[in-house]
Amino acid sequence: MSLSREHAADLSPDTVVVAAGRPERSHDQPVNPPIVLSSTYFGTGALSDGDRGYGRYANPTWDPFEEALAQLEGAELPGLLYASGLAAVSSALSLVPAGGVLVMPSHSYAGSLVMATELAAKGALELRTVDIADTEAVKAQLAPAEGKPASMLWIESPTNPMLGIADIRALTTAAHEAGALVVTDNTFSTPLVQQPLSLGSDVVLHSVTKYLAGHSDVVLGALVTSDPELRAELLHHRIIHGGIAGPFEAWLALRGLRTLALRIERSQASAATLAERLSAHPRVESIRFPGLQNDPGHERAKSQMKGFGSILCIQLTGDGTRSGAEAADQLVRALRLWLPATSLGGVESLIERRRRHPAEPLSVPNNLVRMSVGIENVEDLWADLEQALKALDG
Ligand SMILES: Cc1ncc(COP(=O)(O)O)c(C=O)c1O
Repeated sequence: MSLSREHAADLSPDTVVVAAGRPERSHDQPVNPPIVLSSTYFGTGALSDGDRGYGRYANPTWDPFEEALAQLEGAELPGLLYASGLAAVSSALSLVPAGGVLVMPSHSYAGSLVMATELAAKGALELRTVDIADTEAVKAQLAPAEGKPASMLWIESPTNPMLGIADIRALTTAAHEAGALVVTDNTFSTPLVQQPLSLGSDVVLHSVTKYLAGHSDVVLGALVTSDPELRAELLHHRIIHGGIAGPFEAWLALRGLRTLALRIERSQASAATLAERLSAHPRVESIRFPGLQNDPGHERAKSQMKGFGSILCIQLTGDGTRSGAEAADQLVRALRLWLPATSLGGVESLIERRRRHPAEPLSVPNNLVRMSVGIENVEDLWADLEQALKALDG
C-alpha cells in the first residue's frame, strides 16, 4: 500500500484517514482500491502462510481498511475486519480459556453482556460484572483474595449507554499484574479520540457500523492488536467461525473512514454545545456527557481522550400526567429532524429511549434517552430539541 506504517506514524491521524490504504502509486492505476468479488483464488499445491486460498480466509478488499485501522490505532499488525461488531466480540471472547474468568463492565453494550451471560450460563466462562469507572472495585474482581484471578478484563469507555469513564491505564496495569488480557471496546471514541493500545490494552474492538463507517449503511466490526500470537488466534477464529465481512461493506467502510476526522470534529463540538444547553433545561432531570465540567468522568476523560465524544444521555422529568419514561417517548416522537432510531455514530443525529430494548440492563434508568449527535447544523438540532421539549408542556 502506498502509505507505510512508518510514514503514517509521522502524520496527523486526520491525514491518515485520508491517505491510508490506497493502492501503490503506479501510472494510470486507480487511486482507490477495487472491490474484489471472488470466493476463491487460483492455486495448486500446498497452501503456505500468506496465501489467500479461499474467500473465507482472505479478501484483498479487506486489506486497505485493516491496514488503515492499524495505522490509526498505532498497532504493529493489520487489524481484522468482521461481519459485525458482535462477530468481533465473539472472536475476542474466544480468547478466554474454558472456565476462565471474564470481568466486564455492568454497563457494557447490551449485546456484549448478553453474549457473555449466555457463555457463562453454559459454563464456558465465569462472568463478573463491575462498575468499570470504579477502579478499586475492578481491581478487587481481577484478583480477589479468594477465588480465581481473571483471564480477561473487558473495558468499554465511555460505556454504552451510561457514559461511565474507565481509567484505562490503571486498569490495564492491574489486569496485567493479575495475568489477565485486556480488550477495550473503542467504538464510542474511535482512534482519533482515544488509543487504547497506547494505554496498555492488548486488543481494541470496534463496531465499525458506527463512527468508522459513519453513514448508518453498513454493519461491520473489527479487532486490532500488536501481538502476533493473539492476532493469529483471532484470525483462526474468524476463519473457522466464519464471521467475515462482505467485500462491498469493507469498501464502503474505507470510503466512510475518509471523512472521519471532519465528522468527529463537527459532532464533538455540537455535542458539547447541546450538552451545555440541555443541562440548563428544566425538563432535563440529569445529563451525562463527559465534556461537562461537573460530569463524574470529566477529569479522567480529559486525561485519556482527545475531546469527549458525541454521545450524550439525558433523563427526562415526569409530571402529574406522565412518567419520565413516557415524557422521553413523547420527546422522541415530537422531533422532526433527529431520527428516532437505534445505533449511533452516523452523519445523522439519532435518538432513542434505551429501555425500549428488552435486553437493556434494568439498571439503565427507564427515562434515559441516548443521543448520538451527527453533523447537521447545531442550531437546527437545538431548535428541534427545544420545540420537542416545549411540546411536553403543551
Ligand atoms: C459499544 C458497542 N460495541 C459493540 C456493538 C456491536 O456492534 P454491531 O452492532 O456492529 O454488531 C455496539 C452496537 O451498538 C456498540 O455500541
